[in-house]
Amino acid sequence: MGYKKILVGYDGSEPSEKALSRAIALAKEFEAELCIVGVVRPFEFAAIDFIPPEEIEEYEKEELTKEEKYLKKAAEKAKEAGIEPKLKVMEGEPAEELMTYADENGCDLIVVGYRGVGGFKRMLLGSTAANLVKYANQDVLVVKQK
Ligand SMILES: Nc1ncnc2c1ncn2[C@@H]1O[C@H](COP(=O)(O)OP(=O)(O)OP(=O)(O)O)[C@@H](O)[C@H]1O
Ligand SMILES: [Mg+2]
Repeated sequence: MGYKKILVGYDGSEPSEKALSRAIALAKEFEAELCIVGVVRPFEFAAIDFIPPEEIEEYEKEELTKEEKYLKKAAEKAKEAGIEPKLKVMEGEPAEELMTYADENGCDLIVVGYRGVGGFKRMLLGSTAANLVKYANQDVLVVKQK
C-alpha cells in the first residue's frame, strides 16, 4: 500500500531534518503530496505575571518568524528533489496541532524524528513523537536512521 498525502513535523532539529529527508524520499516513491508543518508553542504561561504583554507578543512573533524561515529552508530541500510541498506554521502543542492538521487535510502518514529541539542528550523518544504514536489516527513513522 502506498501513501497519498504525507505530513512531516519539522522543528529545525537534526532528527527532524532526517525525518524531512525520509518524507521527501517517500513522497517521491509514492508520488504523494508532501506537507511540512512547524508548530510554535505559545509563551509559557507560568511566568506570565512577571512579563509585560508586549514582550510576550514580541517573543511569539519572533518564534513564528523563526519557524517560517525553517520551513522555507525545508521547502528548498523538497524542491531540489522535485517535490512542491505545502507549508504551514501552527501555534499550540506540537503533537495536538500535527494531529489536527493530519485529520483536517486528509494526510495518511505522519513522519517525525525520534527527538527534537527540546530533548536532552538522551536516547529516549521525545514526547511529541510518543504522543503521535499513541494518539494519531494515521500511520506514524518515527525516523531513527539517517
Ligand atoms: N514544534 C514542532 N513542530 C513540528 N514538528 C515537531 C515539533 N516538535 C517536534 N516535532 C517533530 O517530532 C519529532 C520528535 O520531537 P519531540 O518533540 O518528540 O522530541 P524532543 O523535543 O526531544 O522531546 P520533548 O519535546 O518531549 O522535550 C521531531 O524530530 C519533529 O519531527
Ligand atoms: Mg519537542
